[in-house]
Amino acid sequence: MKTPQFVQIYHEDAQAIGEELIRGLTTPDAQGGAWISPKFLYDALGSRLFEAITELPEYYPTRTEAQIFSTHGAAMATLLPQQATLIDLGAGNCAKAASLFERLAPVRYVAVDISVDFLRGALTHLQREYPCLDMVGVGMDFSASLDLPPEAGALEDGPRILFYPGSSIGNFTPEQALVFLKQVRAACGPVAGSGLLIGVDLLKDTAELEAAYDDALGVTAAFNRNLLLHINRLVGSDLRVADWAHRAIFNADQSRIEMHLVARRSLTVRWPGGSQDFAQGAHIHTENSYKWTLAGFSQLLREAGFAEASAWTDAPADTPAGTAGRFAVLWAPTQEPSPCA
Ligand code: AVI
Repeated sequence: MKTPQFVQIYHEDAQAIGEELIRGLTTPDAQGGAWISPKFLYDALGSRLFEAITELPEYYPTRTEAQIFSTHGAAMATLLPQQATLIDLGAGNCAKAASLFERLAPVRYVAVDISVDFLRGALTHLQREYPCLDMVGVGMDFSASLDLPPEAGALEDGPRILFYPGSSIGNFTPEQALVFLKQVRAACGPVAGSGLLIGVDLLKDTAELEAAYDDALGVTAAFNRNLLLHINRLVGSDLRVADWAHRAIFNADQSRIEMHLVARRSLTVRWPGGSQDFAQGAHIHTENSYKWTLAGFSQLLREAGFAEASAWTDAPADTPAGTAGRFAVLWAPTQEPSPCA
């Protein structure tokens, strides 16, 4: 039996993190409020709360994407390369990628997440089920740069499938998404048949979108407000959960859900060496989740250097043309398929 390899590239720089957070609290963003990057939503409790969100009745993306894979998995497998290196961006518990193993028969599975500690248990367990599959866990911040280590295999080794499910692409602005997708295109390498398999949340009715980010149980509110406790631990501040309300609104001009924390009263936040006043009603903007049209996202993939994408959605086969569905999975090959293949 093979054993998984692990490589940790990302190393936390506590000082840089502290400076980024203080800058976010003290410097108004384009909308005039404070801005904290959504990556800080995912401490240990935040990650558990996000898992709980994916089970909420209002949060449709996770189960809709799973349904698309189970309905259209066979059709996808006819387009994707067999015996490829499968590179899973933001692998977490590795379950989504593992559900593709039977159909795609990859030769190597590279699970990427911010810390290999998140990957150890899942990969060790998976290796028992797939004893002959090469497995590599890579701890890196792939949103900053996608330079994979040599353990992920050489670009020329064979076809590569870059896998980015869950609509995490929606947490980038369109400009950031384009930069990121260009890096993904480069990481696909030169071998014919390679490409990107990606999940994208589609634009839809405002009420459905806002309910998905402000559920009746208050789990998304807890996920957002937990950020305050995480900031306190990172910078020694005295943010109080009770002082801040969760708000999720759809910004139609930007085609994005925005999550904010809204001050319930005028207050001063203090940390060693500084402080910031917030008026009642002032916002800390904590996340954007962009919603794409299928046409808009296909165009973005072309701009990033991919060939024409194939898309599968949850829209029933007999719905009128233009009824896009709630969620889409796209396969964007790096090159047009050869007519002689
Ligand atoms: C991780 N990401 C795709 C989620 C989303 O839908 O934007 C994060 C999330 N935020 C609130 N609910 C879920």
